[in-house]
Amino acid sequence: MIKWGIIGCGRIAQRFMQGFAAVDGVELVASYSRRGVTVDDFVSKYGGMACYSIDDLLASDIDAVYIATLPDSHAAYSIAALKAGKHVLCEKPATVNLAELDEVLEVVKATGLLFMEGMKPPFYPLYTKLKEYLATDPIGPAGYVRAGSAVADCPPDHPNYSLELVGGSLMGIGIYEAFLAIDWLGDLQEVQTMGRFGQTGIDMFAIFQTMHKGGYAQLYAGFDLHGKGDALIAGPLGHVTIHKNWWNPARATIDYLDGRSVEIDEPFTAGGLNYELEHFCNLIRSGLTESPIVPHQMSRQMIDMIDRARAQVGLKYPGE
Ligand SMILES: NC(=O)c1ccc[n+]([C@@H]2O[C@H](COP(=O)([O-])OP(=O)(O)OC[C@H]3O[C@@H](n4cnc5c(N)ncnc54)[C@H](OP(=O)(O)O)[C@@H]3O)[C@@H](O)[C@H]2O)c1
Repeated sequence: MIKWGIIGCGRIAQRFMQGFAAVDGVELVASYSRRGVTVDDFVSKYGGMACYSIDDLLASDIDAVYIATLPDSHAAYSIAALKAGKHVLCEKPATVNLAELDEVLEVVKATGLLFMEGMKPPFYPLYTKLKEYLATDPIGPAGYVRAGSAVADCPPDHPNYSLELVGGSLMGIGIYEAFLAIDWLGDLQEVQTMGRFGQTGIDMFAIFQTMHKGGYAQLYAGFDLHGKGDALIAGPLGHVTIHKNWWNPARATIDYLDGRSVEIDEPFTAGGLNYELEHFCNLIRSGLTESPIVPHQMSRQMIDMIDRARAQVGLKYPGE
């Protein structure tokens, strides 16, 4: 049984608990959120102990924490949890920038504990099945990725619009596109970005194209257009379409150069965060300090891509 603590009891923490209920060998022991009323409400729904300070949470009998606060506090909570001897599963984006992530990874190295960014798509059954299928019936090495997501229905008070809380489309959504490009095309080499800003000082929409060891990607992220899109991955022998919403993947089509078309249909259950949780628990049981699927170097490259894209559109967060 792996004993868990939750830090930040908002929207994604609730979805995480939906996944939690579908995973064996886990127990929710304690939760903490900045406001007492939030943690009380969370504990009344999901059980465990309510903690009213981070010190109380980290002193409780837990093996691991899930950090589900906003990105402005991810690094500080990751470091505090690791220093308290807890494994860390931290929501995306892992930190505000690469420099912060490297500080976290120094502590990971010093403590020998597990740290993983909660980058969910590769753990979904569709994504796993797709990779397995392509290993036996390949499209050749991927050379091009086109993907994007834009969400036009966030309520006006959503933290996505807050500069202080490290909102913005690149940070909130672009990080998924960064993952996809790096996962299929390899090491990042160059980034070119354009974007427009909203009244609160965050990027409302951004397009970025990237060059990698294996080829090129064209990506977008936004909050003012309805663009819950698909993803295209092209190789010399065919291309894959991961149908909408590609970051919660459930259906893909592979079109081969020889005219064949293969459909892969793998719906996800329990909200989809159960798969990364299961993987993380297995890593703890195996004594590993990083995931082979979302390794530290991949998290470094994802946030490096967003850092570079932000620099090109002129987006800085307070304190940077
Ligand atoms: N994996 C996914 O599918 C997915 C989807 C959406 C979002 N996310 C990520 O998940 C994270 C949270 O997003 P969300 O949509 O859940 O935001 P949210 O609804 O605002 O939840 C964050 C919660 O954390 C608490 N909080 C904020 N700052 C805190 C701090 N410094 N210390 C302690 N508690 C704090 C807030 O509660 P109180 O202030 O009331 O205590 C808030 O309810 C973000 O990094 C986001 O990018 C992931």
